[in-house]
Amino acid sequence: MSQKLAAVKGMNDLLPEEIGIWQHVEAAAREIFSRYGYAEVRTPVLEDTSLFERSVGEATDIVGKEMYTFHDKAGRSVSLRPEGTAPAVRAYVEHAVAQKEPLTRWYYIGPMFRYERMKTGRYRQFHQIGVEAFGAKEPAQDVEVMEMVVHFLNALELSGVALHLNSLGDEACRPEHQKRLVAYLSAHREELCPDCQTRLERNPLRVLDCKNESCRAIAQGAPKVQDSLCEACRQHLAEVRRRLDLLGVRYELDPSMVRGLDYYTRTAFEFVADDPALGTASAVGGGGRYDRLVRELGGPDVPAVGVALGLDRICLLLGAAGKRFGVRPDLFVAFVDVQAQDEAMRLSSALRRAGLRVELDTRGGSLKSQMKRADKSGARFALVLGEKELADRAGELRPMAGGEPRRVAFSELSAVLRRA
Ligand code: HAM
Repeated sequence: MSQKLAAVKGMNDLLPEEIGIWQHVEAAAREIFSRYGYAEVRTPVLEDTSLFERSVGEATDIVGKEMYTFHDKAGRSVSLRPEGTAPAVRAYVEHAVAQKEPLTRWYYIGPMFRYERMKTGRYRQFHQIGVEAFGAKEPAQDVEVMEMVVHFLNALELSGVALHLNSLGDEACRPEHQKRLVAYLSAHREELCPDCQTRLERNPLRVLDCKNESCRAIAQGAPKVQDSLCEACRQHLAEVRRRLDLLGVRYELDPSMVRGLDYYTRTAFEFVADDPALGTASAVGGGGRYDRLVRELGGPDVPAVGVALGLDRICLLLGAAGKRFGVRPDLFVAFVDVQAQDEAMRLSSALRRAGLRVELDTRGGSLKSQMKRADKSGARFALVLGEKELADRAGELRPMAGGEPRRVAFSELSAVLRRA
């Protein structure tokens, strides 16, 4: 026997029994985001490696350790996208969108790739629903993005997701914070892991999201960026908070949250669920403001803010909450012989054209096995066709959940099923 093949480690198949939840979540995102004026964008899964080095940052775990990077046949270094913001900014700049409109609202849904250690809720191919708003520096835009996510989570009836909020400062106040941070971390240099000793030189903020136990303990006592915020950043944060309150969005200030990507300025936030369904993972989503990134990637001076939600994690939470989604057939048509099968196919085809979901077993077989199949399909009704039904052009419509069958003329079936 030839050897069985399996999917690449950390990359999952989604079989039809699971897909209902995914389609439900994606449909809710499309519906709700469009209510706020966001339009869908689709970018390639492969980008030049330098895009992520210049945006997410070379010293981050994502770029430094987790990217799927290789050389294509022309020798270019390309990477499977580990996140969606940098590609969205690349597309925004490449298509000179800023020249066409002053305010741009995009969303995307798709696979991302990070070579992480796999666990429940942490995969190497995972999926994000992301949102990016370009052109508004105002705190109102940060609030719109956060409130929209809260709306979306409410629509999915996912309670128990907390919003954590912080400000990471901007180019005016970050150098001061960096100085204090470097002084503090240098005093603890020997206790830091070798990676963090390098980070201390290259990008000290990244020490604060190291997963190593002893680095985490040191990070706890590190100076907080909140204590170094300049007046403009302080005001921005105060206005974000005022407007969140105004809209009744609950949040907690989390001065130790720094996010794992380099491009953020000012507002940073995460949606966190403390739910066993996620294993040791807890972030359902994260985002923030990135006012310098468009310029740094060769575009005009356009501020932006966005968020990405982990679709896999949202589906885990919904699955654990016992929610089931998926489409059920309206009708299962069974038949006793070849003549009845001809009519079953004709009738099914007409009903499908009228917009109904109709299944039959193309293999035929005994009535008993067809009815078993009807049961498994989850159909709402079944109809058995035999000699008498063909002659009368009518049959018994049987509710699969139990109850009295009723006699219905073929010509009435579509209307009756629609009302039922
Ligand atoms: P991020 O925090 O790296 O942010 O990822 C966002 C979300 O993606 C996480 O909160 C988590 O739910 C999910 N996620 C990340 N890695 C994995 C994984 N290995 N397996 C399963 N789920 C995962 C970003 O990617 C930014 N681009 C967000 C953003 C958009 N900022 C501004 N705009």
